[in-house]
Amino acid sequence: MTRAADLSRARTVDLANVDLDYEGFRALARNPHLSAHEKIGFPDTYREGFEQAILADILAKLPRLASDEALTVVDIGPGCAGLPKMLIELCRERRHRLVLVDSPEMLAMLPDVEGVTVKRDGLFPENRAAVLAAAGGGADAVLCYSVLHYIFQDTNLFDFADALVELMAAGGRTLVGDIPNASKRRRFFASEPGQRFHRDFTGSSEPMPVTFNEPVPGKIDDAVLMGLMMRAQAAGCDAYLVPQGEALPMANRRDDLILARP
Ligand SMILES: C[S@@+](CC[C@H](N)C(=O)[O-])C[C@H]1O[C@@H](n2cnc3c(N)ncnc32)[C@H](O)[C@@H]1O
Repeated sequence: MTRAADLSRARTVDLANVDLDYEGFRALARNPHLSAHEKIGFPDTYREGFEQAILADILAKLPRLASDEALTVVDIGPGCAGLPKMLIELCRERRHRLVLVDSPEMLAMLPDVEGVTVKRDGLFPENRAAVLAAAGGGADAVLCYSVLHYIFQDTNLFDFADALVELMAAGGRTLVGDIPNASKRRRFFASEPGQRFHRDFTGSSEPMPVTFNEPVPGKIDDAVLMGLMMRAQAAGCDAYLVPQGEALPMANRRDDLILARP
């Protein structure tokens, strides 16, 4: 893995070939040469022009965010690019309180809006008590977008699921979005549309080899997602695995997970 010291000062970072975790993101956030998208681990082309469609997809899955209910909202891993800034503006307009949970380096790059934003730094779910307290004992909407694969590197995912269940108020809902699912990726690339996608992306006529019945160390797959769903269900929540809007850049290989407390 690339050393944190290199991530924090290299003029360019080969983001496709860096294994990121919470500390890796802290280093990217400190690097003055990177764009906001690069600081959150995305080449600019992966996010530029897509953020409005991503927010629309989030609102379709967390529809109460668009209401004027003065909700308590928590964003776990907001990063520092356009998405949290749009969410902050939406919460300001709708009079929601928004608890932002990320490293101090990422949080420092987000605006402070009086009466709207509350920042809690640290690695979730280790800081779950502080986040729950900042949410006043329960959140109506929780967003954790494009973060689960990093939480998978750093912590026990069942602790994460337990902490989300604990964080939701009655009637609350969580969207764990933009999850790379190795099983879904395999299914897609084993199909003709997947092979066509590969040919168009690489410009090569070589087929992409796809293997099944092999371990995928370090990767989230169907089993991990089903396990998280069953953990939340056993704790009294509903759980749904749903597709991303087709306009989203990685919809063919990513899933969204919704947890809902009745
Ligand atoms: C790929 S970025 C996604 C940012 C934002 N949600 C978005 O989609 O634009 C991942 C973010 O999650 C943060 N992060 C990673 N692991 C975390 C954890 N365990 N607790 C809190 N934040 C975490 C990183 O610092 C980074 O800002």
